Amino acid sequence: MWDYTDKVKEHFLNPRNAGAMENPDAVGEVGSLACGDALKLFLRINDQGVIENATFQTFGCASAIASSSALTEILKGKTVAEAEALTNKDIAEYLGGLPKEKMHCSVMGEEALAAALKNWRGEAAPEAHAEGELVCRCFGVTDVTIRRAIEENGLRTVEEITNYTKAGGGCGDCVPRLEEILAEVLGQAPAQAPAPKPLTNLQRMQKVMQVIDEVVAPSLRKDGGDIELVDVDGTDVSVSLRGACSSCPSSQLTLTDFVQKTLREQVDPAIRVKGV
Ligand code: FES
Repeated sequence: MWDYTDKVKEHFLNPRNAGAMENPDAVGEVGSLACGDALKLFLRINDQGVIENATFQTFGCASAIASSSALTEILKGKTVAEAEALTNKDIAEYLGGLPKEKMHCSVMGEEALAAALKNWRGEAAPEAHAEGELVCRCFGVTDVTIRRAIEENGLRTVEEITNYTKAGGGCGDCVPRLEEILAEVLGQAPAQAPAPKPLTNLQRMQKVMQVIDEVVAPSLRKDGGDIELVDVDGTDVSVSLRGACSSCPSSQLTLTDFVQKTLREQVDPAIRVKGV
């Protein structure tokens, strides 16, 4: 089971400020019963912009209730400007930490606070998922929430994104998009196939011999010519044209346009061929 701190247990068993508020100055609502967690935050804010009271109604697990309780305690006495600077980290720290799989409960608190302050400023509450791209259909999580969670909490893996936002914790269809968003926020290119290892001298020599024997020589023999491999020194390949090729006026062209081109394509693009 989850390893909760004593403070989480205490706020779950004795939640502070639970219940609706009559005539609140601001209300923020996030989550949905369908997604398993929902939080409604009520604020009383005086004319000086100080939060005099905060209450909540939460549907969710022990850590969701404890996080909501902690949030209301943190908020009381804070100015709106101070409240705007709070993040989910403040909620988790207040509780002495949350299990990593439950960090999404603290993120829900941060989102409810942002919604309540928006409501207090008279800004229309956004319709569900209207802000940003809906990335995770299972839990109704947008890219705005995911990007903020990555930036504010220094997330580095998709598993961490799931712990903080729940995105990716259901059917898994959104995981490739989560990987893209993670790479974008971290300023990294999406993972690419590793570059092939450079050939050793021995490997290059063996491949040159093989391509000369199996591709180049049989082709030249069809026209009465032939080729002998004389030396391989790094990427320098020395060959001797034989038969009809040795006296052909186009022998230099054969070396560059056929022998060298074939070896560059099939062995190493740095190869230089010379006739001896
Ligand atoms: S769409 Fe995200 S887990 Fe199903």
